[in-house]
Amino acid sequence: MTAAPASKFKPRVFSGIQPTNHLQLGNYLGAVKRFVELQEKGVETIYCIVDLHAITVWQDPQDLRRATRELTAGYIAAGLDPERSILFNQSQVPGHAQLAWIFNCVARVGWMNRMTQFKDKAGKNAENASLGLYAYPSLMAADILLYHATHVPVGEDQKQHLELTRDIAAKFNHDFGVDFFPLTEPVIEGAGTRVMSLRDGTRKMSKSDPSDASRINLTDDADTIARKFRKAKTDSEPLPESLAGLKDRPEARNLVNIYAALADTTPEAVIAEFAGKGFGVFKPALADLAVARLSPIAEEMKRLMADPAGIDRILGEGAERANAIAQPILDATYDIVGLIRSR
Ligand code: AMP
Ligand code: TRP
Repeated sequence: MTAAPASKFKPRVFSGIQPTNHLQLGNYLGAVKRFVELQEKGVETIYCIVDLHAITVWQDPQDLRRATRELTAGYIAAGLDPERSILFNQSQVPGHAQLAWIFNCVARVGWMNRMTQFKDKAGKNAENASLGLYAYPSLMAADILLYHATHVPVGEDQKQHLELTRDIAAKFNHDFGVDFFPLTEPVIEGAGTRVMSLRDGTRKMSKSDPSDASRINLTDDADTIARKFRKAKTDSEPLPESLAGLKDRPEARNLVNIYAALADTTPEAVIAEFAGKGFGVFKPALADLAVARLSPIAEEMKRLMADPAGIDRILGEGAERANAIAQPILDATYDIVGLIRSR
């Protein structure tokens, strides 16, 4: 986290992940692992399970409940502590949807039309996408600004949404002549900010890729993790002497990045260690490292998932703490806009 410019806003970290499918390695390295690092720095940290974002595309209700609890378990198993970080699901704090409505009236249609994630998710039939999917970035801005968050750790793919969040904050401040919402800084750092598919080094690893072999799920057992890395697509060259040698080798570059992120080191250091070695050596080393790092998380997730009521309790307590921060900010926003609250 780089130092924010001097401002009246105290440092506060917010981020969120959608409860859809299973957590995958990209979510872990690009997001959750960074969430834990920021918690350990002692800043105030708020981490959300964005269930209202999830339903912008169809979710089976039963699956949504399971995925919400599983993501909560994943947060905790990866090292988030419900005492030191606020962990909750978005729909339990009504201010998210309320502030999103106000932001729907601040953001411009032209801004939304430029969002690449909407274009990717809506696909060819954008006419048939939900209105919620179109307004998704405005809800995301509300998530962040409802807490006056100053820093948001995310993967590379969220950069555009965070720029839009700043645009919304700036336009609100300008339109109403206030200095009320902070201009939030993205925190996109380290080797894991863009983890690519194990089957195609030009596509990002995703929970929703139809091929399960394209990703490592946090719930995969040790054998599955090892097999997926063994079968990962690569070329037949040994690893080069320097990073520059990986320029046109996206799959090799991806595995080096994954190794670096898992080992808390840099891609340069990984290359220095494995230069001249083939994938017959590198892949088993990577699989061992991944199993050592991920298996304890999977085990702990399983243990936590055995007590859904315990997970729901954590979410409820987190929502209460989140709401206590959010409500005064929402009230002040309504007042700035001119909405009367007389009770
Ligand atoms: P989502 O699963 O879309 O809700 O993403 C949750 C978080 O994980 C966001 O911060 C994303 O930027 C991050 N993320 C998702 N996929 C990847 C990936 N392949 N590499 C790095 N970060 C990712
Ligand atoms: N849009 C994010 C994603 O798909 C999830 C998200 C929703 C989020 N609200 C957020 C991330 C607020 C950071 C801050 O990954």
